[in-house]
Amino acid sequence: MAANPSEKKETRFYYPSEEFAQNAAIPSMDAYWALCKEAEEDYEGFWGKLARENVLWHKPFTKVLDETNPPFYKWFEDGKLNVSYNCLDKNLENGNAEKDAIVFEADDGTVTRLTYRELHKRVCKMANGLKSLGIKKGDRVVIYMAMSAEAIIAMQACARIGATHSVVFGGFSAPSLAERIENAGAVAVITADEQVRGGRYLPLKAIVDDALAMIDDNKVKNVIIYQRTGNEINFVKGRDHWKHELTDSQSDVCEPEWVDAEHPLFILYTSGSTGNPKGAQHSSGGYLLWAIMTMRWTFDIKPDDIFWCTADVGWITGHTYNAYGPLAVGGTIVLFEGVPTFPHAGRFWEMIDKHKVTIFYTAPTAIRSLIKASTEDTMVAPENYDLSSLRLLGSVGEPINPEAWLWFYKHIGKERCPIVDTFWQTETGGHVIAPMPGATPLVPGSCTLPLPGLSISVVDETGQELPNGQGGILVINRPWPSMIRTVWGNDERYKTHYWPEELGGRLYQAGDGAIRDPQTGYFTITGRIDDVLNVSGHALGTMEVESVLSAHPMVAEAAVVGKPDDLTGESICAFVILKKELPEGENAKDVAADLRKWVSREISPIARPKEIRFGANLPKTRSGKIMRRLLRVIARGEEITQDISTLENPAILDQLKKSL
Ligand code: WT7
Repeated sequence: MAANPSEKKETRFYYPSEEFAQNAAIPSMDAYWALCKEAEEDYEGFWGKLARENVLWHKPFTKVLDETNPPFYKWFEDGKLNVSYNCLDKNLENGNAEKDAIVFEADDGTVTRLTYRELHKRVCKMANGLKSLGIKKGDRVVIYMAMSAEAIIAMQACARIGATHSVVFGGFSAPSLAERIENAGAVAVITADEQVRGGRYLPLKAIVDDALAMIDDNKVKNVIIYQRTGNEINFVKGRDHWKHELTDSQSDVCEPEWVDAEHPLFILYTSGSTGNPKGAQHSSGGYLLWAIMTMRWTFDIKPDDIFWCTADVGWITGHTYNAYGPLAVGGTIVLFEGVPTFPHAGRFWEMIDKHKVTIFYTAPTAIRSLIKASTEDTMVAPENYDLSSLRLLGSVGEPINPEAWLWFYKHIGKERCPIVDTFWQTETGGHVIAPMPGATPLVPGSCTLPLPGLSISVVDETGQELPNGQGGILVINRPWPSMIRTVWGNDERYKTHYWPEELGGRLYQAGDGAIRDPQTGYFTITGRIDDVLNVSGHALGTMEVESVLSAHPMVAEAAVVGKPDDLTGESICAFVILKKELPEGENAKDVAADLRKWVSREISPIARPKEIRFGANLPKTRSGKIMRRLLRVIARGEEITQDISTLENPAILDQLKKSL
């Protein structure tokens, strides 16, 4: 449906340089359309060929896609492989042994390098250490660590022995960690004594202890602790092991465990609009294939590239574009422990300069905060650093507003570097809509076109495809290799949430709204259509925050909505009804501060409401449903023009309009 914008150069587009295009994996729109056509004509043939050419199989697959039991699709089912073998051993055999795999920069600026040979040894030792504790194929291992080579070693070691890992972001609280450990049925936790961020030491092991104490049916037999800071921690004899003591004497050779292509490589929890977080279960074969293909296509990775993805390994971006994708293509990654604003807000630019980064992948929220910082203090502006090593930029996590896009393009990429605005989700495993940097003419604010092989549409509430120019629901029309396989332990939830009956049951519903440009067919994501908020690129369920607020002893009821925010994209506004009388003045401020702390402790600082408003009641329909659409309008400070005839208690609206 999309026109070919490269045929006629238009001023509103940004084009790659000839040099970039000539050397790119996909060098033109013709090459892009040719791949799309190939997939359309022979879907299984297209994927089968890519999987044979890009993944090392221990036992080749004979069938590409099994669609007999939708939506439980299977890819390359009878093939056997090992993901860690594909990331490490492969690179020892093809001349990358002495190449840097990981360049790690600690919070304080200390740099450590690991070659593929060293990384391979460290992963094997860790894998043998895990095996010595009886951890085996199919077991679930929770990893609760900060950004470190050790976190990637832990993930790769699990992959090597066929254990399914579940990384929990190090900013999550004990109750959130406990919920995930319990849901995954984990037998072990890998953590660190502490983490270091922005010059501060923050606990990890202590939170693991708290989390484990909260679980009724605790299956965790072993806790492995990487010593990061050396500060004293509580040590439970028999259960706890220092990582160095466990692994130092282990052999640095460990035969990979060959697993089926569908074997769950990992579970990663993501927020849902209702209920508990969903454990997105990912495969081994299909996931790896897509991690590799998107490294080649979207990031156009070359042997000399220095690839820096700033995402934490606790998120899917850190899985696919730190722990797996770059290694599977023999790349060198920069890994950063700290925060973009410490010791100063020029840290990112300083690191690009220092490590000669060529591909830089980050989030709009980081870009926006650094724009602000460099406007306030020219000392930290990118102009103070040599960014000439850069050749490609990437954005992920939320829509990037054209203003931030243009700043990124001009001040960081110096109008030389294409920007790939990559739309995807925890559930998609890798990019699904993104420009091909050597081919696709760019439009700020649009993630452009689907990756080759993917069929994506905008449909109405009944699943009918809408014409370009009309906004609707974003769906993926056919199964793709790196798709979520199920919600861990909850097939029903997977089916009803992602493959809704209303859309016919055969379309994957991403949960986002989208609109396509009438001329180009380019996609623009218009935001979530469910009650999932996106704060700084992190998905958070409104229900999750509401239930934590409601659990506070002072709170009777709470409703949470999102509100546009210049820095974080969206921010949380909470409407709270206390059990006692309406708080006023200083008292209200104190209670609000208390509630913020509570949410931070119960979920994570990311979930902390930016704004809290108190009322005597919430606006409800006569049937008792909270009218969130009204709360959204109030949170934005707009006038209510909508129909409020079903509202039981209209007087409440004026009260809630008063912000603190
Ligand atoms: C949601 C997924 C993908 C890794 C990080 C977030 C939003 C993500 C974009 C983009 C517009 C985007 C969507 C999506 N999103 N990337 N380039 N443009 N929106 O993973 O936590 O699973 O969140 O993030 O709303 O559904 P996640």
